[in-house]
Amino acid sequence: MQSRNIVGDSAVLRHVLHQVEVVAPTDATVLLLGETGTGKELIAGAIHEASGRRGRPFVKVNCAAIPSGLLESELFGHERGAFTGAVAQRIGRFELADGGTLFLDEVGEIPVELQSKLLRVLQEHAFERLGGTRTIDVDVRLIAATNRDLVDMVATRSFRDDLYYRLNVFPIAIPPLRERREDIDALVDHLVGEFARRMNRRIDVIPTETREALRRHPWPGNVRELQNVIQRAVILSRNGRLTLPPIRVEFPLRGAGNEVDTLAGINRAAIVRVLEETSWVIGGPRGAAARLGVKRTTLQSMIKRFGLPLPRDAAKSYLDSRTSRPERLPDPNWAVG
Ligand SMILES: Nc1ncnc2c1ncn2[C@@H]1O[C@H](COP(=O)(O)OP(=O)(O)OP(=O)(O)O)[C@@H](O)[C@H]1O
Ligand SMILES: [Mg+2]
Repeated sequence: MQSRNIVGDSAVLRHVLHQVEVVAPTDATVLLLGETGTGKELIAGAIHEASGRRGRPFVKVNCAAIPSGLLESELFGHERGAFTGAVAQRIGRFELADGGTLFLDEVGEIPVELQSKLLRVLQEHAFERLGGTRTIDVDVRLIAATNRDLVDMVATRSFRDDLYYRLNVFPIAIPPLRERREDIDALVDHLVGEFARRMNRRIDVIPTETREALRRHPWPGNVRELQNVIQRAVILSRNGRLTLPPIRVEFPLRGAGNEVDTLAGINRAAIVRVLEETSWVIGGPRGAAARLGVKRTTLQSMIKRFGLPLPRDAAKSYLDSRTSRPERLPDPNWAVG
């Protein structure tokens, strides 16, 4: 199994790699589900490399990065004169991927109008270029990825149900980093080695408290966020000791409540800051609730309401690392992503 560059040995990651191994040699469509930065693209590449299509093209299209008006031509190509500005014929990604694998990243962003055309290629392995009449046959294995809830999108009709079923042949859920904290140490070692080499630095020591801080951070940005923090740390390091920059919890700026000019936004920002300062301990005389001057249960419901990620193991691993008796742990049901 080609997993040389996939670091980690947690049971959940091993399960993912096992699924990769099983599905790779088949031509089945794979749907990768996971938060931002969890390694969806890495896994897509691993599936291609472990398949009979290795050596053939692996073509990537990020549906969110291409303006929706241009996406159709990007996928299917166009003939000269197909639309204003189409001065020459253009080969689309499906044709480029012929014989290989097409990785459709952020598939939830495909406009509904285009979804039916995508469905047709999946069913008939055929399409026409924009402005063209000739039907083009292709042999393409599709891997799609999304961090959106497609079931929810189907319910609100922003995603076609028939396309969803076509894509959802073999779903693989890639767990967030906070659910596989066992992998953090190995990832840190790997990334420190990698960045030190690239920046021509020597890092001999990773202090214990640095490791502990890295282990208990909630990593809402997953491996990509860890990568950025390690890169900054390697830059800051002196005398061969890894020096951690202050790691703030950078929540994805999605949904309401992030604006600091609303009352809710101010509350949320204050909660995040105090949670960081108290290392996610909520109760007890020095816990976040006491610091904020609210009851523990009030803080708990605010955390829930603001959709803050509070993995129970963030607090637990912190408490485990201390010698004193742990205060009450947060309710396990709060691990909101
Ligand atoms: N298990 C892992 N071992 C080593 N590197 C990893 C691992 N998982 C992710 N990475 C690295 O983290 C970065 C983010 O991974 P990737 O781009 O595959 O995530 P993604 O899920 O596609 O993210 P996004 O949703 O933001 O596009 C990449 O540089 C990737 O190489
Ligand atoms: Mg990606």
